[in-house]
Amino acid sequence: MYRFIGIVVLTVNLIPYGFTDTPINLNAGLEPYDLLFDNAVEAYYKGDWISVILNMERALRNKGTVRRVRAHCRLSCANQTDFGEPVPGVGVPIPGSGSVEDLSFFQKILKRADCVNSCEGEKLGHPSLHKISEAVELEFRKRTPYNYLQVAYFKINKLDKAVAAAHTFYQANPDHLEMRQNLDYYRMMAGVKETDFKDLEARPHMEEFLEGKRLYSADDFAPSVDHFEGAVTEYFSADLECRALCEGAYDYDGYNYLEYSADLFQAMTDHYIQVLNCKQNCVVDLATLPGSDKTVEDFLPSHFNYLQFSYYNAENYEKAIECSKTYLLFHPEDEVMVQNLAFYSATLGEDKAAGITAREVVQQYIKQSLLEKELLYFAYEVFGITFVDPDKWTPTDVMPLKLREKQKVERETAARITEEIGNLMKEIETLVEEKNKDSGELSKVVREGGSVLYDDITVTMTSKSLNGSQRVVLDNVITEDECRELHRLSNTAAMMGDGYRGKPSPHSPSEMFQGVTVLKALKLGQEGKVPLKSARLFFELSEKVRKVLESYFRLETPLYFSYTHLVCRSAIDEKQEGREDLSHPVHADNCLLVSELNECIKEPPAYTHRDYSAILYLNDDFEGGNFLFSELDAKTVTAVVRPQCGRVVGFGAGKENPHGVKAVTKGQRCAVALWFTLDPRHTEKERIQAEDLLKMFSSPLDAEFQRSPSEPKPKPVQSDQPATETAEQPIPEPGKQAAKPKQKSAEKADGKQKVKQSDKAKAKAAEKKDKPAAKKNADAKKDKPPVKKAAADKSGGGGGGGSVAKATDTKQRPKAKSSEPHKDSQERRTEASSAADSEKDKDEL
Ligand SMILES: *[C@@H]1O[C@H](CO)[C@@H](O)[C@H](O)[C@H]1NC(C)=O
Ligand SMILES: *[C@@H]1O[C@H](CO)[C@@H](O)[C@H](O)[C@H]1NC(C)=O
Repeated sequence: MYRFIGIVVLTVNLIPYGFTDTPINLNAGLEPYDLLFDNAVEAYYKGDWISVILNMERALRNKGTVRRVRAHCRLSCANQTDFGEPVPGVGVPIPGSGSVEDLSFFQKILKRADCVNSCEGEKLGHPSLHKISEAVELEFRKRTPYNYLQVAYFKINKLDKAVAAAHTFYQANPDHLEMRQNLDYYRMMAGVKETDFKDLEARPHMEEFLEGKRLYSADDFAPSVDHFEGAVTEYFSADLECRALCEGAYDYDGYNYLEYSADLFQAMTDHYIQVLNCKQNCVVDLATLPGSDKTVEDFLPSHFNYLQFSYYNAENYEKAIECSKTYLLFHPEDEVMVQNLAFYSATLGEDKAAGITAREVVQQYIKQSLLEKELLYFAYEVFGITFVDPDKWTPTDVMPLKLREKQKVERETAARITEEIGNLMKEIETLVEEKNKDSGELSKVVREGGSVLYDDITVTMTSKSLNGSQRVVLDNVITEDECRELHRLSNTAAMMGDGYRGKPSPHSPSEMFQGVTVLKALKLGQEGKVPLKSARLFFELSEKVRKVLESYFRLETPLYFSYTHLVCRSAIDEKQEGREDLSHPVHADNCLLVSELNECIKEPPAYTHRDYSAILYLNDDFEGGNFLFSELDAKTVTAVVRPQCGRVVGFGAGKENPHGVKAVTKGQRCAVALWFTLDPRHTEKERIQAEDLLKMFSSPLDAEFQRSPSEPKPKPVQSDQPATETAEQPIPEPGKQAAKPKQKSAEKADGKQKVKQSDKAKAKAAEKKDKPAAKKNADAKKDKPPVKKAAADKSGGGGGGGSVAKATDTKQRPKAKSSEPHKDSQERRTEASSAADSEKDKDEL
């Protein structure tokens, strides 16, 4: 606290104004509120409650005074030294370097500065006294002083004040559990009245507005008019103050002011544009709901929306017309308002109505705001000083065309990034899901051994005989004829499809490789290049394998195709000598095998969504080419399976089943490789297309193949939502020691603790800002006044789209009643909130 005294002594010696009579006297200026705050906190830890109250109350009072004085000084100085009249005796001003006009301009600037400085100095003391650190400002924004105050008041038994302080603090800290407990406790105490729960920081314009809205919703129109009118008056006075307070010091915003070197006009521009930006943002500041980051959408215009309808209901048509016209200044295209105005005018008489104009104060406001925006956009375009228009009503052409185009591009980029992030999130989701699935692996082990569905099919080897888990070898899954037909299909397709027979194997230079997918085969069939019958057989047999595996592994949810490939590997005779490699190296199907580490990493680029794999063998007239399972080291072979026609080896696609294919040293080895997923989102797109293609072909298909894989049973989704906190909060019993209002949790008054707390608070604040937009929109919807249609759309039922057409309809109808502005607030509110609810449900699913 000595810091401040030091500054005072120093500055007083340098710049003596405000201190001329008693140079070292704090009373000459207002006591700085950060000093008072510190004193109060110090007193708190000493348990000196009276001192807490005295200092904290004064801190709050002085903060208010600083604010008021600054606004007042700037406003009244502006009044005294405005730039309005021309310089006397000079005639038409011709500005130029050092011209009289320039001089008189700067003369006014100097006078204004002098005016503001002496005005503030007189009332507050030297400006540096009230330079408050960001940390303390944050405490005041968070309304922390009221937390100290409520404890202190409680201790000296000033219950009504304690309640008001607690309530005030809680408004800005709705997540503060202790304070909520305290409030619950206070509520049950004898002698506490409902009226004690006051928000001491409430801003008059918002209070009036919310009260007006409350009455409006209750159809209490006459009193709601009073509150909305009060709100408008208070709004403009708050706006004036907010704007005046924007005329503060230049905010270097992080960069080193020592390196800032701008010439006179650039420096003035930089500062002035910053001020203008701040002034424009008063719209946001004023629309902010108490104790939250949420704002009322289109705040100022909405006042006149509420007002016009309230006046109408109070049968004051003059005022209803005035307010409609005022609203239309902001939104001239608003159909409903245009209709309302037409209705009011017709009711009152067109002549009379024509004489009523929109409110002057709003006309002035819009004119000024638009001019500001123009300057800001100019600075944006020319100097790159960003400006984001906070208003919804600004006509498009206020923003320069170039900027509009630039913003369009930026928006598109932003949309693309958002989409990419969305995809990334989906992938992460999938990974998490799969991880969860992994942990459920144990139950899968127990589950295998279900029916194989077909009498012919035999279980030749189980996990046990294959020395692992999630493994099976089935025989006679397809017949000799079917094997031959698919084998032929592969070779014909390879020849017809590619024009040459096979390609070098991607896995081994000693082999050729050819492959065809179901869709490719069907397309070739459609073109007559392969027998359509064979292509269909390929489709049907792969489906058979899928069903058998689903059943054998007793899966609770359907298995979906992820990829299907009919592949043949052929030995290149002249490349077999001294061959040591495998036909297909050891790998796992849904993770990246790192054999050196005995690890398998389930991350992209691995196909992490794969859950089961199967290979359907078509022949055995080749040498080598045995299928093998190994340990994670990719060396220790745990089981070997010899291919043969009609044999299927099926296995879990995870790290439990590293596998490979031994070198094919002679002949051609053909098989259908099938990968499956339990996640319908990863269903093979080709498969769906293939199905569609099959449906187009004339011959009827087995009905079960018509089942679309894109119609899965919706998976049950677990909700990770924690139970509401309220349920877990024990309600304190009155009089119990434990239930007394909690003191600040940081009982120890050491500085570190304090810093930590405010860090936490910062994180909280940031968190809040990141709230999903959907919620915000839903709230905004609710905040909108119920539509005040001149034409009731009785014809259409609900509200919503197409109001133009309906309006014309009703106009033609003679029924007078139907062209009344109506207010189906109840209906609409339910509609709006149920829409919002279902949106929320979607989010949670
Ligand atoms: C500005 O000056 C006029 C006339 O001198 C006065 O009526 C008005 O109250 C002044 N406004 C402020 C904010 O001082
Ligand atoms: C399983 O391991 C045993 C013992 O090592 C081995 O004899 C047997 O051949 C293995 N099973 C298969 C299918 O390879």
